Amino acid sequence: MTSRKGKLKVGIVGCGAIGTGMARGIKKDFGKHCQVTGLFDIAFDKVEHLAKELKLRAVQKKSIPQLIKSCDCMIEAVSAQSTNEIIQKALHAKKDVLAMSVGKLLNAKNLFRLAAKQRCHLLLPSGAIAGLDAIKAASLAGIDSLTLTTRKPLSGFQNDSYLKEQGIDINSVHTETVIFQGSVIEAVKNFPRNINVAATLALASGCQDHMIVRIITSPEYRSNSHEIIAKGNFGEIRTQTENTICPENPKTSYLAVLSGLQMLKQYSMGIFVGT
Ligand SMILES: NC(=O)c1ccc[n+]([C@@H]2O[C@H](COP(=O)([O-])OP(=O)(O)OC[C@H]3O[C@@H](n4cnc5c(N)ncnc54)[C@H](O)[C@@H]3O)[C@@H](O)[C@H]2O)c1
Repeated sequence: MTSRKGKLKVGIVGCGAIGTGMARGIKKDFGKHCQVTGLFDIAFDKVEHLAKELKLRAVQKKSIPQLIKSCDCMIEAVSAQSTNEIIQKALHAKKDVLAMSVGKLLNAKNLFRLAAKQRCHLLLPSGAIAGLDAIKAASLAGIDSLTLTTRKPLSGFQNDSYLKEQGIDINSVHTETVIFQGSVIEAVKNFPRNINVAATLALASGCQDHMIVRIITSPEYRSNSHEIIAKGNFGEIRTQTENTICPENPKTSYLAVLSGLQMLKQYSMGIFVGT
């Protein structure tokens, strides 16, 4: 963890829907507190395009090590198998990390241990769900039952390999259809790009072993929605979000970008509101 004077220096790995949205948001709204010092993507044209659009002339963009060196906090927003190694590199360099690919972190105890050892912050935004503030508080008393029901349009499941394996042709779905019901481990394994929120909810609630995830699609759906029901001796929590889809990626909700930005804002200012 770096002790900082001046603006928080931010390096963004992954310039897709989330990385681009966050870079634009930082430049537009957080100029007082944050500065983008590094951008990296294996699709180098995306980096060039974004750096040009945001007039980031001095930004580091050649490699991940160079980006890590340039920043205080690395934002991870990649669709990569190597996500955990990328995060590991930043933690080894004693840099804080804001990670969006939470599905990959569900069982990443090694990274949590490394972050603690290095005295680094590992920030995991809520994404496109509501109610994690209350869920975290309730988890202290124990949550007896927890269900996440995610509804997404057919476009979110085009070319999905799990559905192909199950013999489900997404273009032949004509009515509201439950395409998955099971544990969070199975959900994250089978829908790695679609269900990061399930992993975030599991980590926040401590209910990995008994929470239920249900995924439903329909030709009628136009947006991504997530409904949470939690019960325990604290009472009952029910939340629902109806999310606008990111134009750059139909699997990703705009609220996920905003949630990453809000977490970065609180972290850069050192003031956290909510649990
Ligand atoms: N936490 C949440 O609520 C939430 C919500 C949506 C998406 N996500 C996750 O966040 C990540 C980014 O989502 P997105 O919608 O921006 O995806 P995206 O596909 O739009 O962008 C991902 C970018 O990562 C780049 N990339 C792939 N491998 C790379 C590597 N090894 N090094 C550098 N860049 C690499 C790709 O070229 C692409 O530009 C994904 O893992 C996604 O599953 C999380």
